[in-house]
Amino acid sequence: MTKQTILTGLRANNELTIGNYFGGMLPMVDMAKKADDYQINMFIPDLHSFTTDIDHSKLYDQILNCAKLFLASGLPTNDNILMYRQSFIPAHSELTWILDCFTGVGEMNRMTQFKDKSASLSDDRVSMGLFNYPVLMASDILLYQATYVPVGDDQTQHLEFARDIAMRFNAKFGEIFTIPKPVIEQHEFFGKDQGLRIKDLQNPDKKMSKSSESDKGVIFLTDNIDAARQKIMSATTDSKAEINFDKINQPGISNLIELLSLLSHTPVDEVTSRYQGKSNYGDFKSDVADAVCEFLNTFQDALSSIDDSQVLSLLEKGEATAREQANATLLQVQKAVGLRK
Ligand code: TRP
Repeated sequence: MTKQTILTGLRANNELTIGNYFGGMLPMVDMAKKADDYQINMFIPDLHSFTTDIDHSKLYDQILNCAKLFLASGLPTNDNILMYRQSFIPAHSELTWILDCFTGVGEMNRMTQFKDKSASLSDDRVSMGLFNYPVLMASDILLYQATYVPVGDDQTQHLEFARDIAMRFNAKFGEIFTIPKPVIEQHEFFGKDQGLRIKDLQNPDKKMSKSSESDKGVIFLTDNIDAARQKIMSATTDSKAEINFDKINQPGISNLIELLSLLSHTPVDEVTSRYQGKSNYGDFKSDVADAVCEFLNTFQDALSSIDDSQVLSLLEKGEATAREQANATLLQVQKAVGLRK
């Protein structure tokens, strides 16, 4: 029996935060270390990078950097794991066109991410690429017959669409695509930790996000150490002068406890009890800052030790294998629709 595939796409055109690291990258890397029974595809959806305006002069380096970040987080490099760039496998674009012809305009119009991202733009400034984004994403998944696709809440509608179009296509042409598991089963498979979210340091009711208006509450993996320390020291807390893990009444303190727990590989209760009865937030924050800085130092050292040629050769190797797999699926599709004998 061939292995089931776990597939995930890692957007490249934003700097990643420590929240992305603990909420997304690390769980994937841990899974890659354990999952001998699966094929793991970690790819960079570079064609998805400019559905809205970006600085194109930076894109190439951002793509390489994204791959480096994964290696620096300890992604193993064995044969179970394929790392590749979407645009290096032409089958993604070709399948997108074919699936486009089986996708309704109305269906795409109902996608909430499309609605959100296009709301502030005039129609002529909304790109066809933004509209078509979910179809390309479906192609990313279906070309590799992926079963498991960990995605954040903002992407579940796109995953549902991938399932819909796969079922529609199979119903018309026969069993061509593996149907990815429904969202509930994805959550069961990947576990609750996927939901774990570090909050913004300034605004602990909100998720720490690279797209937040101000950088003050966000720690980037590439932040300078002093700047990161400063961000922790000025994190929003409260005036209770007690260190409790209480997300409702002390969201800022709880967020820092969670961060320290992750950084020190110590359960939340243990961290909390260590600070029981202490009233000085400054000392506590300074411990958190030390842990953050130590983590960033180690991570940045690992990152700088990876050179371009090393990532490139790994990507090219992944791309050769991915191309074969993707082309095999594409050929079946081409035959189904009457383009090939
Ligand atoms: N749209 C995803 C995101 O914004 C990235 C992505 C593109 C993806 N193609 C994918 C994720 C295929 C999973 C599977 O995060």
